[in-house]
Amino acid sequence: MRILLLLVSLSCLGLAQDLREGERLYKFHCAFCHGKGDDGMAANLVSPQLVHAPTEEALLGIIRNGIPGSDMPASLGMSDSDIRSVAAYVRALGRSAPASVPGDVARGRELYMGKAGCAGCHMVAGKGGINGPDLSTIGIERAPASLRASIVAPDESIPPRWMRAVVKTKSGTTASGVLVNEDNFGIFLRAGNGRVQYIDKASVASIERGYTRSIMPSYAKTLSEAELTDVVAFLFSLRGER
Ligand code: HEC
Ligand code: HEC
Repeated sequence: MRILLLLVSLSCLGLAQDLREGERLYKFHCAFCHGKGDDGMAANLVSPQLVHAPTEEALLGIIRNGIPGSDMPASLGMSDSDIRSVAAYVRALGRSAPASVPGDVARGRELYMGKAGCAGCHMVAGKGGINGPDLSTIGIERAPASLRASIVAPDESIPPRWMRAVVKTKSGTTASGVLVNEDNFGIFLRAGNGRVQYIDKASVASIERGYTRSIMPSYAKTLSEAELTDVVAFLFSLRGER
């Protein structure tokens, strides 16, 4: 029913043209975090069911307002028609292939709780350590490929929420915050108060990106390929209540 409505509304706009525009906008505004849809640092969008966007209305709302309390930002400088185009593109991504992950969830959980020692630092459903982020809903926040990257190369795959930048402008001002988005023309920084600021690259004197070393060890050598696959399957299954 929903898909039917979507197709009807799309055919009014011209489906192919709208999707092309949606793709262009997606690459500009979303790919920085979501990659091609299933290989980004943020939530997997190649799924017929989006947890936060069960309805069209909800999807448009998320793109317009972001997801409060998460790294999913509100849209900046996107018109209602831009938001509709990008939403159509997201739905098309969702229809392209279901996300299925190989691996054994139960074995992954055992490794996680046991010899890999993940639970010593991470909390899941209220149990575990507090030296790393809570992973209770990591399966809806991150795509499988990037979860794997987090485990084998924690230093190189620090998620957007830990990527920081200090920007100095030619006029002598300094801005700092979480690096929300960046392209050839400008940089978006989110300050501690949650406000997002756009800085034109033409006015920038220097950008210092603050990657701090992770305290999380790399498991590239301590877990086998099969074990890694199982741990990723377990993480991807974590979709509990916040
Ligand atoms: C700064 C990184 C970032 C950018 C840019 C970004 N997102 Fe997100 N997005 C996230 C994160 C992180 C989540 C997961 C939030 C959570 O559940 O905690 C998310 C979640 C979502 C969801 C919900 C997925 C689900 O399963 O419910 C949708 C839909 C989405 N984003 C679409 C978009 C679109 C469309 C754009 C571009 C207009 C965009 N995002 C830009 C980081 C980002
Ligand atoms: C010594 C503590 C420690 C151990 C042990 C540890 N982690 Fe982490 N982990 C962290 C910290 C701290 C971060 C935050 C980002 C960073 O600094 O890399 C993190 C980040 C992550 C992330 C990204 C979280 C997000 O919000 O995107 C995942 C996924 C993850 N760890 C999974 C694991 C798994 C699976 C294991 C076991 C195989 C593990 N961690 C073991 C400390 C740890």
